[in-house]
Amino acid sequence: MPCWPTRVDVREVGPRDGLQNEAPVPIEARVELIDALSTTGLRFIEAAAFVSPAAIPPMAGAAEVMARIARRTGVVYSALVPNPKGAELATAAGADEIELVVSASETHNRKNVRRSVADSLVGARDVVEIGHGAGVAVEAIVSTAFGCPYEGDVAPERVAQIAGHLVDAGADRLSFGDTTGMATPRRVSDLLDALDRAGIVGDRVGLHFHNTRGTALANVVAALDRGVTRFDASVGGLGGCPYAPGASGNAVTEDLVHMLEDMGIDTGIDLDALLVCARRAQEIVGRELPSALLHAGARSRRYAS
Ligand code: COA
Ligand code: ZN
Repeated sequence: MPCWPTRVDVREVGPRDGLQNEAPVPIEARVELIDALSTTGLRFIEAAAFVSPAAIPPMAGAAEVMARIARRTGVVYSALVPNPKGAELATAAGADEIELVVSASETHNRKNVRRSVADSLVGARDVVEIGHGAGVAVEAIVSTAFGCPYEGDVAPERVAQIAGHLVDAGADRLSFGDTTGMATPRRVSDLLDALDRAGIVGDRVGLHFHNTRGTALANVVAALDRGVTRFDASVGGLGGCPYAPGASGNAVTEDLVHMLEDMGIDTGIDLDALLVCARRAQEIVGRELPSALLHAGARSRRYAS
């Protein structure tokens, strides 16, 4: 039997990465979803993004979301930020952690946050200073870490180099995002090799997969084989915007938890409670979500013969 970790931290990103790629839903529904998720045993919930509402309309009202959620002890509510202004707003709104996003590819960074990678890296020092000044941890997310929709392949060495700059800037942790679902187990292995060579190892490394091309769980297993213990996922598989051709949601939280638990890997998450949230997520966005478990039920499900 492979030597998998005995425990994994799953971070729920549906309320941010998922909903940012759906038609906007009311703040009340965003709050309700986060509160429901916080009862499942999930310890990490990415609750909002403090970004320009003109750039990402579904994330407007982030401060109100943070103010209205019922904070559950032991749950870390994080927020994504693209720049120091976002860090100021997120810490003022009470985010427990902030996540600075920087793309590994120049073109994607310019399109996403309207500045060069070099400028984002300079801004990272300010974001870290603001976060640490407010007493919150700062994670750096390196997006397009497995490929870029504009530039194609992104060299793992480049991703590792940017990660190194972010560590130098004071980031407490790193997450590597497969923004448009281009990762495969081979690319996961290549990136982890490059990170190893750069000395970026252990529980500082988290991975963020999208299931755009059906490889999200295969990528997770490839990473488990290498000892990675932090993964992002979205409930129901939220995020496949019906208005953006080719877009697709994250790894599905309940599918991931179901697989991990059956592999003997503890997540601390109650699958039944998660399925209730997934059904609610479907109602909130008003369409069927791609979750396999919502359709098939858990492995333990028995049908009348
Ligand atoms: N949150 C809210 N508003 C912000 C902001 C933030 N983090 N950063 C800047 N703004 C506001 C400015 O105050 C300014 O407002 P004004 O026009 O009322 O004065 C306006 O946005 C433009 O500011 P500017 O610094 O020129 O930003 P920009 O137009 O170059 O856009 C970003 C840069 C980073 C703010 C924008 O591209 C963005 O929010 N990107 C996020 C993308 C994203 O979330 N992608 C998905 C997650 S990976
Ligand atoms: Zn994502």
